[in-house]
Amino acid sequence: MRFLTGLQPSGQLHIGNYFGAIRPAVQLQEKGEGFYFIANYHAMTTMESAQKLQENTYGLAVDFLACGLDPEKSVFFAQSAVPEVHELAWILSTVCPMGLLERCHSYKEKVAKGIAANHALFAYPALMAADILLYNADAVPVGKDQKQHLEVTRDLAGKINDTFGADIFKLPEPIISEVTAVVPGLDGQKMSKSYGNTLPMFGEEKPLRKLINKKVVTDATPLEDPKPTEGSIILQLYKLFASPEQYQSMVDAHLAGGVGYGQFKKDLFEAYWEHFRAARERREWLITNPDYVNGVLNQGAERAREEAAATLSRLRRATGLAWS
Ligand code: ADP
Ligand code: TRP
Repeated sequence: MRFLTGLQPSGQLHIGNYFGAIRPAVQLQEKGEGFYFIANYHAMTTMESAQKLQENTYGLAVDFLACGLDPEKSVFFAQSAVPEVHELAWILSTVCPMGLLERCHSYKEKVAKGIAANHALFAYPALMAADILLYNADAVPVGKDQKQHLEVTRDLAGKINDTFGADIFKLPEPIISEVTAVVPGLDGQKMSKSYGNTLPMFGEEKPLRKLINKKVVTDATPLEDPKPTEGSIILQLYKLFASPEQYQSMVDAHLAGGVGYGQFKKDLFEAYWEHFRAARERREWLITNPDYVNGVLNQGAERAREEAAATLSRLRRATGLAWS
């Protein structure tokens, strides 16, 4: 079983990214082979400078490795290390009806947000389909927002098979994790960079402690009174980090009263800080060992290119682009 996913290098990782995207990918390494990449061509559709793109791409490589991506188990690379993906994107574009792209929510939402409607933004799903089909992935763990792009991928794979030969591509399955849509932000809306309500995965202790203390929204129940557990943002976040016993004891303390939100926030911070301790330490090591990080990416790129070459050679023959 081959799992594949891509993550855009769009800045500081938050815990929604971790629980929704990174942790599922890391866990799937135990069930099969991972092909994981940093979607830096995709990020060009929204990136403001070359320096930012480069820094974010490398930074995401460090963070992904810190979170447990194991290069012995997974092929890990930057999308731009395999430019062959554009040949496949072109071939897929020739069977891709305009209407299919016009219906994509993600494109419509980005344009509505004021991002320039250029060709790359419009054709994004064809490149994403190429990312997946180039490496013959069986299953793709993604957030709900990407489900439609998986449908486009399956559609295009089917069209290529119908036109050029039945068994050129397998049709990849999406894996949509239950937790993916769930991580709430500090204000209770979905955690997202665009809402400015994120809890970063990595950062300095003091500002993060302050962030939790000041920004996690609570009601005005006095310290001595019982506190509502339904809809409590503190409890929803605490559940991600605490053991079931710790979680239950915070629920009990809410119901009993006599403990203030300040204390609950302190407990939340401690659990959060402890949860990422190992990842933080590994990240410190990775930051001081760029040769290791670059070595992993180079090795991953080499393996990815082998796979890409085999797929393209098959496809070039099937489409008439090659004849020997
Ligand atoms: P953002 O909304 O902060 O811009 P992205 O859209 O870049 O985040 O998401 C990157 C990955 O992280 C996607 O796979 C997405 O499903 C996941 N993700 C983002 N926010 C959350 C969240 N609040 N809960 C669960 N998963 C999330
Ligand atoms: N479009 C995805 C996102 O914005 C990132 C991505 C690019 C991707 N190519 C992919 C995800 C291939 C899964 C498979 O989050």
